Amino acid sequence: MINVAVLGYGTVGSGVVEVIETNKKDIERKIGADIEVKYILDLRDFPGDPYEAKVVHDYKTIVNDPDMNVICETMGGLEPAFTFTKEALSKGISVCTSNKELVAAHGPELIRLAQSNKCNYMFEASVGGGIPIIRPMNSALTAEHIDFVMGILNGTTNYILTRMDEDGADFADALKEAQDLGYAEKDPTADVEGFDISRKIAILSSLVCGHYVNYEDIYTEGITKISAEDLKYAHAMNKAVKFLALSRETHEGFFAMVAPFMVDREHPLYMVRDAFNAVFIHGNTLDNTMYYGRGAGKLPTASAVVADVVDCARHLGKCITILWDDERVELTDANKYRCPYFVRVPADKADAAKSAFKIDKVIDAGIASEFAFVTGEIDNTEYEASAAKVGDVINRIRLI
Ligand code: HSE
Repeated sequence: MINVAVLGYGTVGSGVVEVIETNKKDIERKIGADIEVKYILDLRDFPGDPYEAKVVHDYKTIVNDPDMNVICETMGGLEPAFTFTKEALSKGISVCTSNKELVAAHGPELIRLAQSNKCNYMFEASVGGGIPIIRPMNSALTAEHIDFVMGILNGTTNYILTRMDEDGADFADALKEAQDLGYAEKDPTADVEGFDISRKIAILSSLVCGHYVNYEDIYTEGITKISAEDLKYAHAMNKAVKFLALSRETHEGFFAMVAPFMVDREHPLYMVRDAFNAVFIHGNTLDNTMYYGRGAGKLPTASAVVADVVDCARHLGKCITILWDDERVELTDANKYRCPYFVRVPADKADAAKSAFKIDKVIDAGIASEFAFVTGEIDNTEYEASAAKVGDVINRIRLI
């Protein structure tokens, strides 16, 4: 019997219970043993809920149970999740989590703790919701030297940008819909300002290099300045605005960035719509590979947690190799990232813009009060210098 406990009976936690119950027979066949959700930890009671009797309020009941095998930490946040996770791992109980905040902050320490107690700390659901991406990086892609990762890693913001693009929805309505569908963080600032994505790309970057990329070191720009007009221009250019995370190894070192980009219709990430996510990876001998699926939402995220439970159950008393130590990676300066910029200025600044920027193409989206264009490849320092000469920029978006 594999005994499982779920910490936090919210969106993902209740999804974990549902996935285990719905697919019990399949899961048991894959594990080769019975599985049971023995406890659910939450501060609240759930009268009338079918799993009401499993709800406990004291974590000690779970962590002191000698028959406990795997704990699913779906509480989110740093504390008490960090303390609970350490207590479980110290006792040899594996932990599977969807908590990217905790993984991004303490991943190497928790992996080391698990390894020294012959159990596992698994975090497939922390990046890309239901998309298998951590496991491919730790197994299927181990023959590769990965030098580039680019992803749409947030369901809420991809949903918002899709609704704005396809239905002309305004930002606030689209965000509300994403919240109602269970995609958004408790505080959606983390979604729209890119902090959620910076944690996810920090985790992926760390797994690429095997060291610790601190999400706080990653240049991060949100999507709150993206407007209906930007999307009109994107349409005129056969492009879409996508909120991307990039991580690249260059001759100068490791670089990572989170920002909205204009993505061409020909690019594989262009067709990633709604709450779907995708991760595009380049390996030196494999070339390009892409992973696609639901990046947020109760059951897809829970499915990834439960897949980790299956892995833990198959490896009781053994460690699954995850190479991630706590040597901190010094990221290169994001200001040096070179790409074309799409720029909008008021129509009366057209001449100033023409002399300040090297313009590759003027863009006409039928907005008479503006002059819009795409520059040649420049870095952010060059962009800022030219923008300062113009003195008045309505918005600018990088092109991938
Ligand atoms: N708020 C996150 C998102 C949840 O929208 O992608 C999944 O990490």
